[in-house]
Parts: sequence; structure tokens; C-alpha cells
Amino acid sequence: MIKVLFVCLGNICRSPLAEAIFNQKIKEKGLENVVSSDSAGTSNYHIGEQPDERSIQVSLNHNVPINHLGRQLVRKDGETFTYILAMDRSNHRNTIHTLNNTHEGLFLMRDFDPDETGADVPDPYYGGKDGFQEVYDILDRSIEKFIQFLKEKHDL
Ligand code: 4NP
Repeated sequence: MIKVLFVCLGNICRSPLAEAIFNQKIKEKGLENVVSSDSAGTSNYHIGEQPDERSIQVSLNHNVPINHLGRQLVRKDGETFTYILAMDRSNHRNTIHTLNNTHEGLFLMRDFDPDETGADVPDPYYGGKDGFQEVYDILDRSIEKFIQFLKEKHDL
């Protein structure tokens, strides 16, 4: 099984949405028996919480089921996951800190964005609804490319 972990700060806005979009695409492509995903936050702010209401709303607007409870990234995740995709530079740096190591499958989510390669996924928490739609669009196209990368790399 190829295991993918999406990481943001709170694990209630960006990364659970990324996980939901990824799972939907993986299912559509018939890859659910070879690829799985999870999400986590670098902070302990929202452990055990449902995704932010605005992430739930934008996800449902696109008919993407979202189902996750907040959890904090732990050192062992470095051994469990094949790929770890950090939403922004700060999460990327804190992931290396938590894992206490580099990880050969660690990337920025937008390393796979064909439009603005290597940029940060903006933190939508303190903004309005528009920010969540923008995050959705970024994730949708970046994840599509990431899955293409997985298919080529692992001959799926
Ligand atoms: P996320 O957004 O990292 O995409 O889940 C945030 C959620 C909560 C906070 C910051 C960002 N917070 O400061 O509580």
C-alpha cells in the first residue's frame, strides 16, 4: 500500500480537505486498493475536532465526502507514510522537526501545482468563504498532478 499523509497546521481546514479530494479521485480512478491517505496537523490546537465548517461546506458543494477528526503529527508518521505533503513552508519545516529527520517522500503540496509550482497553500482560517474555494481549486489541480506522478512513479 502506498500511504499518503497531508499536513497543515490545525488539521481542520486544508489537510482534511486535501485528504477528502484525494480519496475521491483515488476512488474514481479505481486505485483505492493500492493507495490510502490520512491527514494531520503540526499543532495540537484541534485534536479530536471535526473539520472546520467552511471546509465541510466547500467539500459538500463539490460532492466530495469529508470525514476526519483532527490529530497531531507524530514522529512515527515518518515511518508509516510513503509520502508526506505539507501545505506550506512552515508546516514543511515543522514536519522535519517533528519527524526528527528528513523524509525522502516529503514534498510541498504545490510542488505538484501546474499553475504556481512550489507556492504555499494559503491558510484560510482567518479569512472568508472565498479563501476556502481558492484552497479547494489549488488542491484539486495539485492533487490531480500528484496522482499522475504516483501512477508514473509506481507503475499504477
Ligand atoms: P489549517 O488551518 O492549518 O488549514 O487547519 C488552521 C486552523 C486553525 C488554526 C490555524 C490554521 N488556528 O490557529 O487555530
